[in-house]
Order: sequence, then structure tokens, then C-alpha cells
Amino acid sequence: MKRILSGITPSGDGSLHIGNYLGMVRQSKELAKDNECFLFIADLHALTTIQNKEQLQKNVETLILNELALLGDLENITFFRQSDVPYHTELQTILNNVTPLGLLRRAHAYKDKLEKNIELDDINMGLFCYPVLMAADILLYKPDLVPVGKDQKQHIEITRDIAQRFNKTFKKDVFKLPEGYIPEQVATVLGTDGKRKMSKSLGNIISIFEDETVIRKQVMGTYTDPLRIHATDPGHIEGNMVFSYLDYFGEKKKVDELKQLYTEGKIPDIEVKNYLYQSLMKFFKEERERYKELSNNPDHIRDILRKGAERAREVSGKTMDEVYSIIGITNSYSIAE
Ligand code: TRP
Repeated sequence: MKRILSGITPSGDGSLHIGNYLGMVRQSKELAKDNECFLFIADLHALTTIQNKEQLQKNVETLILNELALLGDLENITFFRQSDVPYHTELQTILNNVTPLGLLRRAHAYKDKLEKNIELDDINMGLFCYPVLMAADILLYKPDLVPVGKDQKQHIEITRDIAQRFNKTFKKDVFKLPEGYIPEQVATVLGTDGKRKMSKSLGNIISIFEDETVIRKQVMGTYTDPLRIHATDPGHIEGNMVFSYLDYFGEKKKVDELKQLYTEGKIPDIEVKNYLYQSLMKFFKEERERYKELSNNPDHIRDILRKGAERAREVSGKTMDEVYSIIGITNSYSIAE
């Protein structure tokens, strides 16, 4: 069993779409089958951009509900909120002291701001130090693998760098150097416009937990083959988003059949879209039911979070004991002995 750790920032509005499912969520579920997983909601990281109580609370609660409904069985998963484990911020404070300023100046998120000519006074330290908090998140749990999106690759490299500097400074391999886990096929899922990455803010998503009418509408608006005017025109499968999604959510035999009919101009778009809609409803049936159940049972959610936080504190607390001891902050008042 390997130890896996990953965090999810409650950005957007916290709700997850099929692109998120095919990316991170599906991967977490797969990894959790035979590994020990720590999965947390990075609510402190969200503060760099969300500075509004109502919005932050809503995002965090929505994300927790979405994640739990999709994950289902938490057998090998410790699910928790970052802010429930104060060691994350404690370790960040310590790591700040072995983190070179230049390293953070080279971080993409910060550099992008400078390139957009944003004034230094308009960039907050939360954003600048984001990689150090993320390094603390990771190093506390000594994971073997850290599944992240492509855009997070640099953060893993920075984490390794910080870990090495700490280990070297204090002459002990306290921290394990983490490996990023970024499988190519989960890197990006295109949106219903067939052009850009699926994202709520671009309005090109297919939701998972919305009302059926909303999802139906999203499916009906999905990009197919712009060259096909009549149902009798031979259609293209390549770049046709309805078929891209069907490759994941449909039944292979039926999908192959539809592809054949489509390329021969023997089936209208609407029929294929109907099949996608039905496939999605079938695929996410259990998850949608669980979502309803959980929505009506906040005590159950609180219970999961409490247990998750306890376990996370237990594991990260051990690392903190080692860290405090090796840096010389033991609060033992040995001089007076
Ligand atoms: N920065 C990550 C993202 O935006 C979220 C995150 C925070 C994270 N801490 C982490 C991911 C630790 C992996 C490990 O996606």
C-alpha cells in the first residue's frame, strides 16, 4: 500500500462537473482501491482569492457534499478540511525559514501576476506563499504520491526543493521527497464547446448533481459536427464532444453501433444526445441519490469530517513532533534543569 495525498481548492462555486469527475475524482477513487489516501479540502488556500465569509462557507460546503457524494465508500480515504488540522499552518511558519525568496519569485502564479503588470501592492502574501503552505500540506503526511493536475507540477517541484533544504539544514531526512502523479489521459477534459477545458466560468460544463432538466439542456447544447446539416449527412466522430463523453459514460457496444450509424448518416444528432443524457443519468444514479441523502443529513457529514480530522491530526502530529524536536523547539526548559 502506498500513501497518497491530495488537496482540492474550493474555487469556482464548489460544485463538480463531469470534467472534474473524469479528472481528479475518478483518479482518487481508483487510487483508493488499494492505497491509503488522504484527501482534503484546501480551504485556507482559497483565502488568496475568496475573501467573503458567505461565499467561502458555501463553496466549502458544496465541495464537501459533491466530493462525498462522488467518492461514496471512504474505506481507505481520510477525508478532512485543511483548517481542521492546525499543523498545516504551523509547519508553514517553520518552512518559511528554509524557503528562499527567489524560489517563490519563480512560482508561476506569482510570475503571472507580474507579467500582467499587477502592482506588488495588489498581490497578497497568501498568494506569494501559497507554495509553502502547499509544501506543508504535503510534507506533513510523508506521502509516496501526490496526484495533481498539470498546472500543479511546479508546486510539487517547489515542495521537493523545500523538503531537501529542510533536511539538509537540520541534517536529518525528516521529510520524504514527494512524487507528483499526473497521468496524461486525465490532464484535460474539453467542455461542451469542444474548444476549451471544461470549466464552470466558461459555461461549457455538464453538471452531475443539477436537476435533470438542467443536465438535459447542457447535453443538448453540446458541440457535435458543425459540417453536418442534415441527419442524412455522414457525420464525424473526431472532435465530436457527444461521442467523446460517450466513450467514458456509454456502453461500448452501443456506442460503437451509434458511431457506425452516425458516420453513415443514418442517425440524427438528437438521438445520440438522448443516449448520452440517459447514460449520464444511469452512470451517476447512485451518486445523485447519495447527494440527496447527504444533503438531508448534515450530521453525517460532520461526523465524517470529525473522524477525518482526528486521523489526519494523528498522522501529521507525529511529523510535527519530529520537526519541533529537530529544530530545537521542544519547550522543555532544559536550561533550568
Ligand atoms: N493547489 C492545488 C490546486 O489548486 C490544491 C492543493 C493544495 C493541493 N494543497 C495541496 C494539491 C496539496 C495536492 C497536495 O489544485
